[in-house]
Amino acid sequence: MQVKLGGLTISPVVMSPMAGVTNTAYRTLCAEFAPNALLTGDMVNAYGIVYGNKKSKKMLSFSPTEKIRSVQVFGTDAKIMGEAAKLISGESLADHIDINLGCPAPKITRKGGGCALPLDTVKLADVIRETVRGAGNVPVTVKCRIGVDSQRITFINTGKIAEAEGAQAVTLHARTGVQYYSGEADWSKIAELKSLINIPVFGNGDIFEAQDAANMLLETGCDGVAIGRGALGAPWLLSDVADIIDAHGVLPQKNRVITLNFVRNTMFRHLELLIDYFENEEHAVKDFRKHINWYLRGFNLGSATRDELIRTTRKSALNSILMRFDGKTVQDVNMPKNARVRKGLAKGKIHLPEHLL
Ligand SMILES: Cc1cc2nc3c(=O)[nH]c(=O)nc-3n(C[C@H](O)[C@H](O)[C@H](O)COP(=O)(O)O)c2cc1C
Repeated sequence: MQVKLGGLTISPVVMSPMAGVTNTAYRTLCAEFAPNALLTGDMVNAYGIVYGNKKSKKMLSFSPTEKIRSVQVFGTDAKIMGEAAKLISGESLADHIDINLGCPAPKITRKGGGCALPLDTVKLADVIRETVRGAGNVPVTVKCRIGVDSQRITFINTGKIAEAEGAQAVTLHARTGVQYYSGEADWSKIAELKSLINIPVFGNGDIFEAQDAANMLLETGCDGVAIGRGALGAPWLLSDVADIIDAHGVLPQKNRVITLNFVRNTMFRHLELLIDYFENEEHAVKDFRKHINWYLRGFNLGSATRDELIRTTRKSALNSILMRFDGKTVQDVNMPKNARVRKGLAKGKIHLPEHLL
């Protein structure tokens, strides 16, 4: 099962962009588990790309193991989005561009961006059209939510506009902006979108184990799946999803047993890659703290060990604490679904600019 984005053929397994997580280091780690998955990096500001911002440039770095270099761009100015796409394409900085139409963060939506952009359908069409035009042969996709809130549903218009303006696929995170990550994703909206547009639809929301991906494909008829929080502290999930799709939804005979040693070795590798990426050990170790919580959730290690791990600022100290786990047979086979990542709460409202209220 493969998906065509214009001239590019990709796997139906996509790593959903996650700001502060899906940097080159994390994507390299994911590629080691699932070499064919499409791994999208966290969102980059189109202005930053056009004006050569240092941080944006770094966010456009890729490792040689990433077969398809995939970048997500955000912005509300169609001209700037077009210029950013032209630069990415002209300088061969990436092979795929995704447009962020789903971010619910106030600093983005207040300016009419992220999940607020689909409210202005004229601007939305301009942004997609200019990005597609600037990108040339590089395929452009969009990633959106169901809407801003239950009163302002935008996904159908967004999908139709994306198709009309030359986008090659739509990823739908089946929640509204105001829901953030709370509640359950409404997969029926993925099925609805799939029935209304002719470009590929990637379903997104609540894939925490391989079987969820198989169920989503079956229930919605979507063309592929995008995996977010389920891969936090579990980058191997991408490979398990690829396996179950290859096996046509039948669980492979040997289920992966997640032992503490296996997790620890993955953590070692992740930290090593982060140190290379940040070129600063202390910064990398601090950045790794959130991952420690995700990796070790579900393991009964005691709060003292966790505190010790979280306070560490050196790789060697972290390694020696983790080495104490050596040979321990703790397994999280009974770990409840979604045990690693908390869902978070819905927000009261999405902050919008005056003209969109
Ligand atoms: C920490 C974090 C950062 C995220 N950053 C982005 C982002 O930069 N761009 C984006 O389109 N979505 C972002 N998302 C949303 C995810 O890509 C995904 O749509 C969402 O988590 C729902 O999928 P899931 O239920 O599999 O987690 C982020 C999510 C999380 C948890």
